[in-house]
Amino acid sequence: MAELQEVQITEEKPLLPGQTPEAAKTHSVETPYGSVTFTVYGTPKPKRPAILTYHDVGLNYKSCFQPLFQFEDMQEIIQNFVRVHVDAPGMEEGAPVFPLGYQYPSLDQLADMIPCVLQYLNFSTIIGVGVGAGAYILARYALNHPDTVEGLVLINIDPNAKGWMDWAAHKLTGLTSSIPEMILGHLFSQEELSGNSELIQKYRNIITHAPNLDNIELYWNSYNNRRDLNFERGGDITLKCPVMLVVGDQAPHEDAVMADSGGQPQLTQPGKLTEAFKYFLQGMGYMASSCMTRLSRSRTASLTSAASVDGNRSRSRTLSQSSESGTLSSGPPGHTMEVSC
Ligand code: BEZ
Repeated sequence: MAELQEVQITEEKPLLPGQTPEAAKTHSVETPYGSVTFTVYGTPKPKRPAILTYHDVGLNYKSCFQPLFQFEDMQEIIQNFVRVHVDAPGMEEGAPVFPLGYQYPSLDQLADMIPCVLQYLNFSTIIGVGVGAGAYILARYALNHPDTVEGLVLINIDPNAKGWMDWAAHKLTGLTSSIPEMILGHLFSQEELSGNSELIQKYRNIITHAPNLDNIELYWNSYNNRRDLNFERGGDITLKCPVMLVVGDQAPHEDAVMADSGGQPQLTQPGKLTEAFKYFLQGMGYMASSCMTRLSRSRTASLTSAASVDGNRSRSRTLSQSSESGTLSSGPPGHTMEVSC
């Protein structure tokens, strides 16, 4: 039987007032499918994976992840990891519009660009955090390169290709709606959109006036042409790493309303997501309980149990539990944590 190994954790102190945050460095690399831009925050930490993010359609890494990664309680987590934020081609700030007839990569090809990023940075493993199209891309990457993915946080993933009915509905909507409205309908619920909160106004403004709207439409088309990821519980095609599945309870396709978040929980509920992420990392052996808030610590004691050993890292099993972080329910043993927020 494989032996349980203690993971050495060196906790770093949170930033003191007046201390400057870590610098970001943006790079571009050439890949067989064109160039890809990514931004690195922090420095590599020995024996730790990088956190690698992939954003949804209509957004870039900043508009998708800044509210989460700059959330106060998130700092104690991310300071222990280097972060790589990938921008889908043509989505980076200041990206020129692709020439007419440019063949935008499929989601599978976008996933195939990730090894070039990791090779360039000389990073061997990641914990992926993806939203919508970005979640699909990271899941595809994990299926193709299971040995390099230690964990996945998949927010609002739709693993299936559009069915015949979805296509008909999509075509009908396209007759009466603009591309920005269709993308907003993908990101947010109708209730949120008609509520027209400050957040919705902000994102409607960003997308409607995006100078790279033509590029965004290409990413949108690739998303709509995705194929099935084909994973089945207990089937041959499965994710081999621990997965935290997150569904915003107002996500456009989520019927079961359970808590009080929106279609984009990383924007509307960064606190809940941060706490769930802490549990997830702790289950993977990366967060000492001393690093967690007192409340989280006491809850985690009853939430997580070291269940299976895979390779040399202990994996956790998240038991069915309702908490302020939303509802957590059990998935396949040792691997899945489901969060609704
Ligand atoms: C980060 O610290 O990883 C981060 C900062 C700003 C935007 C997105 C991510």
